[in-house]
Amino acid sequence: LMAEKGGYKHFMLKEIYEQPRAIADTIAGRVLEEKGEVYLEGLDLSATELAAMEKVFIIACGTSWHAALVGKFLIEKHCRVPVEVDIASEFRYRDPIVNERTLTLLISQSGETADTLAALREARGKGGKVAAICNVVDSSIARESHGVIYTHAGPEIGVASTKAFTTQLVALFLFAVHLGRVRGTLDQAQGRAMLDALVTLPRKVEAALELDGAIEQAAREYMGARDFLYLGRGNQYPIALEGALKLKEISYIHAEGYPAGEMKHGPIALIDENLPVVVVVPHNDTFEKVISNLEEVHARGGRVIAVTDHTDPGLTEKSDAVFMLPKIIDELMPVLTSIPMQLLAYHIAVLKGTDVDQPRNLAKSVTVE
Ligand code: AGP
Repeated sequence: LMAEKGGYKHFMLKEIYEQPRAIADTIAGRVLEEKGEVYLEGLDLSATELAAMEKVFIIACGTSWHAALVGKFLIEKHCRVPVEVDIASEFRYRDPIVNERTLTLLISQSGETADTLAALREARGKGGKVAAICNVVDSSIARESHGVIYTHAGPEIGVASTKAFTTQLVALFLFAVHLGRVRGTLDQAQGRAMLDALVTLPRKVEAALELDGAIEQAAREYMGARDFLYLGRGNQYPIALEGALKLKEISYIHAEGYPAGEMKHGPIALIDENLPVVVVVPHNDTFEKVISNLEEVHARGGRVIAVTDHTDPGLTEKSDAVFMLPKIIDELMPVLTSIPMQLLAYHIAVLKGTDVDQPRNLAKSVTVE
């Protein structure tokens, strides 16, 4: 079994460390950098069909739903088409408004999640176009879709999704560039700039993994907490949700992800010296706003764990721990900020002695409703 784990203590850790390779494999052969274009072999929806879409749904469960939430930012920003994200078990029962000019994108690592498959059938049954982002080749969701974009993460054994998630983010990025180019909302130069950034991603993920030791130290300090709060804004709000889900799943510590700007509307009442607050705060347009949320936490005695790519004296002074990431375009930053989320949850779980790869009550793929 140790051999299967490639010398790692758990599949989850092995899969965390496989991310530079998994991401490189997901990009490989799909990027026409000079032309600023993307080639997606199994998508099977023509440029004309894609250009005609008036609405996009992205539907998934769990971690894949968090990827969907990031996808909305990518597609709305670069393709100028309205995107609605929904949880599959909600979408399937609400008689969604779908027609032939609606594209429904399903995201599923396993391709076998019952609710996601039912959502696919619902959208298809209403005459909509359906495409999937899947990791498992020839899975039910892949087979029943008009087109599929495979994430080339390789088998994911750990119940807590890691490399499947970051490769889903990469697949969504590739899809957004493709859709933007065929719809004419992205020109060649813009497409090229985005793809130039994308090809640097594997080695930046590699650099982010070097935080491992420092994160393990922090895990020792915070493993005793009863609750955690994760804050993020914009395309980092889904990463806050994902960080909280990872921690809940494998360490059994209660955690909540919240949009940083909403904190003052309720969760701020929870803050005291017993509450670690993970603040995801890359140097983007809302940096100063998130910093002021961070200051509010600090002023109430909360223990701030900051995840950033920017050296800022105010941030350092008001944080108990700072995890510094490399810089990349804002569209790809969610991939990098995911890494400390995974490592923090992993190390806390190991210290608590839980069954990291097979946490209680959970199944890798939820094939019943
Ligand atoms: C992730 O850590 C979870 N185990 C879970 O939320 C998972 O992402 C969800 O069940 C969806 O699975 P799928 O991607 O295979 O459809």
